[in-house]
Amino acid sequence: MAGEWVAELLVGRILRTEPASLSRQLYTLLRAAMLDGRLPADTRLPSSRWLAKELGLARNTVLEVYEQLLAEGYLRARRGAGSFVEAGLLRAASAAPRRAPALSQRGQTLIDCGPTPLALDGAFAPGVPALSAFPRQRWQRALNRHLRHAPAHWLGYQAQGGLPALREALAAYLGQSRGVRCQPEQLLITGGAQQALDWLARLLADVGDVAWMEDPGYLGARSALTAAGLQLHPAPVDASGLDVAYAQAQLPAPRLIYVTPSHQYPGGAVMPLARRQALLACAEAHGAWIIEDDYDSEFRYASQPVAALQGLADSARVIYLGTLSKVMCPALRLAYLVVPESLIDAFRRASWHLAREGHYPTQAALADFISSGELARHIRRMRELYQSRQQALRQAVTQQLGAALPLSGGEAGMHVLAHLPAEIDDVALARRGWLEQQLVLRPLSSHSLRTPAPRGWLLGYAGVEESAMAPAVARMARLLEGVW
Ligand SMILES: Cc1ncc(COP(=O)(O)O)c(C=O)c1O
Repeated sequence: MAGEWVAELLVGRILRTEPASLSRQLYTLLRAAMLDGRLPADTRLPSSRWLAKELGLARNTVLEVYEQLLAEGYLRARRGAGSFVEAGLLRAASAAPRRAPALSQRGQTLIDCGPTPLALDGAFAPGVPALSAFPRQRWQRALNRHLRHAPAHWLGYQAQGGLPALREALAAYLGQSRGVRCQPEQLLITGGAQQALDWLARLLADVGDVAWMEDPGYLGARSALTAAGLQLHPAPVDASGLDVAYAQAQLPAPRLIYVTPSHQYPGGAVMPLARRQALLACAEAHGAWIIEDDYDSEFRYASQPVAALQGLADSARVIYLGTLSKVMCPALRLAYLVVPESLIDAFRRASWHLAREGHYPTQAALADFISSGELARHIRRMRELYQSRQQALRQAVTQQLGAALPLSGGEAGMHVLAHLPAEIDDVALARRGWLEQQLVLRPLSSHSLRTPAPRGWLLGYAGVEESAMAPAVARMARLLEGVW
């Protein structure tokens, strides 16, 4: 049915997070599809009421766009029959003088990494901490104090890898809590892990170089490495994390290996010592760099956090990446790299060329939070809170869905995996979950480059109030009704 095809072109592409209005986005998408032939001449557009419902938009928004396209001659109305794509648009578009492409190839590769997610918070957005439990007042006091007493030069340009007091506090914290061995000079403060991944990919590998990526794996890493032009090769994960033996036997020699050994994302495996040593030996043999993304290991519920891979390695092939997005909040946009001594100067220069440093009063407040034990106290409180939120989620799923929706993971971190049968399209169902039930269900299959991809959803619980858990699971049960 043409209506469904039209909806298929549009669903997931009209985002409230975009700066352009919803009607502008709809107009642009429809117009582009008519001009490039995806909506051929004489295609009947669905009724505005139907399309509005499919896309979760107000009917007036769709009406307004249809009227605009009618007025501009892209659509033709037939009384009583609806609106149809005008003939000759394709020809007109190809006859028009060729305009320079709007984006570079590199830019297009980056954009092709995918749209921004449909929604970034709410039940069950993964990776979102309990934002309402953020220690606002204490943080505000620390910020005020450091802004008030900031030396004037903190307000100017900087090029030293980040505020020394923060690098010192982090080096001590990482040594004690994560077994990371480093000097403060080896730390480089970045604007979030995402920026760090971008720099790592660009500085340590060339376009076309091979990168091994855990599969399923972290989408943020996948897009940063893809955008840098690397060739991504999916390495399967098992109960011990990245399958090093498989990767060595089956994949081309890597230049970069991206891993989350302390809590594999999104599956949750912890890489045991023997596998870690095999990974280090493999990187050494290939002359490859290892990016160790240690994004959430502070939240381990059943046992002590596992020490970092970086602390095991004398080879200086491991670059450790940590973020404040989970233990503090994502909007801080603060993360850090621990680089081997040989890379300190290169990364500081890169930071200067690509970004420049800033936010020293914020960095000073964070240093204070770490050295005064405030961050450790906040982490302890959040660990308890997340544990009980996870229990509430498990309980609600057991009560309302029984064994139909098996969950796994959850020994650490902020999400569990809900597994779906292989014949269920987790992406399409997640889309419906958003449109019909306002649920944020991140599909497991989109974290995988292999086929068949495992099906399921990542259910983030850390940011969901306990009282909201059962109602959200009830909406999920409604969504699943009739699907199996
Ligand atoms: C595996 C992984 N790494 C890193 C991050 C943190 O990224 P950022 O510091 O860019 O917020 C996340 C957040 O979801 C993550 O899941």
